[in-house]
Amino acid sequence: MKSADIRKKFLEFFASKGHQVVSSSPLVPGNDPTLMFTVAGMVQFKDCFLGFEKRSYTRAVTSQRCLRAGGKHNDLENVGYTARHHTFFEMLGNFSFGDYFKRDAISFAWEFLTGDAWLKLPKERLLVTVYASDDEAFDIWNKEVGVPADRIIRIGDNKGAPYASDNFWTMGDTGPCGPCTEIFYDHGPDVAGGPPGSPEEDGDRFIEIWNNVFMQFNRDESGVLHPLPKPSVDTGMGLERLSAVLQHVHSNFEIDLFVNLLKAAARETGLEYTQDQPSLKVIADHIRACSFLITDGVMPSNEGRGYVLRRIIRRAVRHGYKLGQKQSFFHKLVPDLVKEMGEAYPELKEAESRVVAALKAEEEQFAKTLENGMQVLEDALSANSTKLSGEVIFKLYDTFGFPVDMTADIGRERGVEVDLDGFEREMEAQRERARAASSFKTSANVEYAGAATAFEGYVEASVDAKVLALYKDGQAVDQLVAGDAGIVVLDNTAFYAEGGGQVGDTGEISATGGVDALFDVKDTQKIQASVFGHHGVLSRGQLSVGDSVQATIDLHRRQATARNHSATHLLHEALREVLGTHVSQKGSLVNHERTRFDFAHGQPVTAAEIAKIESIVNHVVMANYDVTASLMSFDDALKTGAMALFGEKYGDVVRVLQMGDFSTELCGGTHVHRTGDIGFFKVVSEGGVAAGVRRIEAVTGEAAVAWVQQQDMLIKEAAGLLKAPVAELTSRITQTQDNLRSLEKEIAQLKAKLASSQSGELIEKAVEVNGVKLLVAELAGADVSTLRQTMDTLKDKLGSGVVVLGTHADGKVSLIAGVTADLTGKVKAGEVVNHVAQQVGGKGGGRPDMAQAGGTQPENLAAALASVQDWLAAK
Ligand code: ALA
Repeated sequence: MKSADIRKKFLEFFASKGHQVVSSSPLVPGNDPTLMFTVAGMVQFKDCFLGFEKRSYTRAVTSQRCLRAGGKHNDLENVGYTARHHTFFEMLGNFSFGDYFKRDAISFAWEFLTGDAWLKLPKERLLVTVYASDDEAFDIWNKEVGVPADRIIRIGDNKGAPYASDNFWTMGDTGPCGPCTEIFYDHGPDVAGGPPGSPEEDGDRFIEIWNNVFMQFNRDESGVLHPLPKPSVDTGMGLERLSAVLQHVHSNFEIDLFVNLLKAAARETGLEYTQDQPSLKVIADHIRACSFLITDGVMPSNEGRGYVLRRIIRRAVRHGYKLGQKQSFFHKLVPDLVKEMGEAYPELKEAESRVVAALKAEEEQFAKTLENGMQVLEDALSANSTKLSGEVIFKLYDTFGFPVDMTADIGRERGVEVDLDGFEREMEAQRERARAASSFKTSANVEYAGAATAFEGYVEASVDAKVLALYKDGQAVDQLVAGDAGIVVLDNTAFYAEGGGQVGDTGEISATGGVDALFDVKDTQKIQASVFGHHGVLSRGQLSVGDSVQATIDLHRRQATARNHSATHLLHEALREVLGTHVSQKGSLVNHERTRFDFAHGQPVTAAEIAKIESIVNHVVMANYDVTASLMSFDDALKTGAMALFGEKYGDVVRVLQMGDFSTELCGGTHVHRTGDIGFFKVVSEGGVAAGVRRIEAVTGEAAVAWVQQQDMLIKEAAGLLKAPVAELTSRITQTQDNLRSLEKEIAQLKAKLASSQSGELIEKAVEVNGVKLLVAELAGADVSTLRQTMDTLKDKLGSGVVVLGTHADGKVSLIAGVTADLTGKVKAGEVVNHVAQQVGGKGGGRPDMAQAGGTQPENLAAALASVQDWLAAK
């Protein structure tokens, strides 16, 4: 049975049992920063299990694309070396949200696997495991389904902690979890391996094909299990493993889905197709993971999901290199993958060109360092063939972009010990160097153990406060005096500290209560999570710890910053509307002048798209929506559909910023009150910052007006210079360019004429050397074709002789030499031209009767030409 048919049958079976067929969600979980990737079918239903979300159905079935690389569920290192591990795979799953529980889950699974109308697997090949204390599941299997007791294995907490068991499934460190029962298929005694729970269980003989999880708990951050509102069911069956069983093969890599990918990998690496080449398996597995990740909006980068993608790509490229493929090849497998999976996943087909481009760019970038890195590694191995030091691993990582797991992979292949602790020490030393190099950060990195700063800046521009601490040169002091640069910590402030892409506030802190002191705040940075450091200079008086002060921000600057920050949220949403939801934020910088927004997108944003984005944003500005901020629990926030940025650390209570119903984001920044306050939004630049990452810069409010005015002035100035009305500017420029082109043509013709008319005078310059007529001349202003024409004319006029002509323009010398046919036995044009060319920093060649050359030293041209006479005389 083909994989595609198995996928279809599974969905059909559960649909017939009242399950809603739901499509696969992307590999990047929506709104769940606790998870790096979608690791199982249940991820998109997490809130249904937790009781936060109600849907119109209580039973669902999916075929879900999953990724297990980097994170709690990580199979990357095993890929290629076992019959059944993948980074990317498809999980077939049925789900009950407080509907059926153990009994139905088990009988559905059994019916689908063994029923005559379905897969008809031989029952005697199946065995099951249950969580050690789950007598209920044991009895259902034994008494109701009829599985003999000796084929039901109880598995306890075999992973070193309570509930850490192969038969207790958890999504991540937190989230829904519960005991499970797993169904295994016995591939037969020809394959090595023992039953689950035995010391040989890691072999490939007994393969787990289906996991039925009885979701009963929510695990919190401290590891405590809280009962779920309603017991539920979450199951997962690897499509690839099931296909292997039904296609009577022992390895997932032998199934229909993989054979063509392996062949494509063999084709692109110039190998014979074989089943037993781990590197081909790695490549075939990784092309699926990488292509789907890019389809789902991840781009290679140095952190988070992007770094996992980068590691997988580089691992694949390295395996290609190992097979002898030194050119970029990996991206060429994408069309093969689309052929295999594009029908089931139309989004992959749609993203094809974007995926190819992103992979190609990453491959080419890595290719630049791979070869040199491999050399360093080989040298290190030949110096010490038993251990790879932390220093070398670090150098490979830092200088050559070798992900550590890739180096470890190579170490394993060569049977060499890899010093990962040593690598960690090197990394720490580098972090230390970076800290030391950044003096600003060091000065913010002061020791503080006092009370926190209350931030009132969302509503107040000026607050009364007390000085809690003062720092000078990074050291705590009791007092600052006029002229001192330092940091002031207050109990209470209106100053926003840099964070979430928004710069820190500026303003002033002035002493009250009869003390005369003024501190100019040039920046605000957090010293600790809720301790604000006001950085600046005491411009007047003396400021002491304990003084009462008034802290007032530069409101004008803050308002401009707020406009830009609010506009950034609108821009983010508009980008998703216009370009697609793969657009995810990669970084932002918001200050009073502009907003800079980096996002994942594979190609330049066109002028038409930018215009559309601007219109959408300005439309929302004019709609003048209320901007509201509310504090709520993180989970409640996600329920509002808020965009949470992966990689940001959010606390228990988060701030949800809403602009009408257009944009909802988690954000701690300062914003306008109504969208109309933004005034006017204008994109001023668009460009690429890294492979697959674009950057848009935009302005708002007064800055946007000023920008438009300045552009308008430039246009008017240009129109004035062309003496044309603005409306005719472009047609006038085109006209002027056309004129220019025809003038250039005319000049070229005139030059040619001039050059040939010169030939009459030139002929006079011919001299006789050893009975040969020689004519050497420099033709100012001639181009190469003029030189050639003139040379032909002169040769004709001389009848018999040698002609050498030269010219130069823009720092470049052009030379030509001609020898009439009767003399080529004596003098060769190539020799003459080379003799001259060598003296002007060049080289040349050609036929015996005509040769050309170039050079780079026009200053030596005259002397070089003059030397031809002696050269010929000496011949
Ligand atoms: N969520 C369960 C698993 O991934 C079914 O095994």
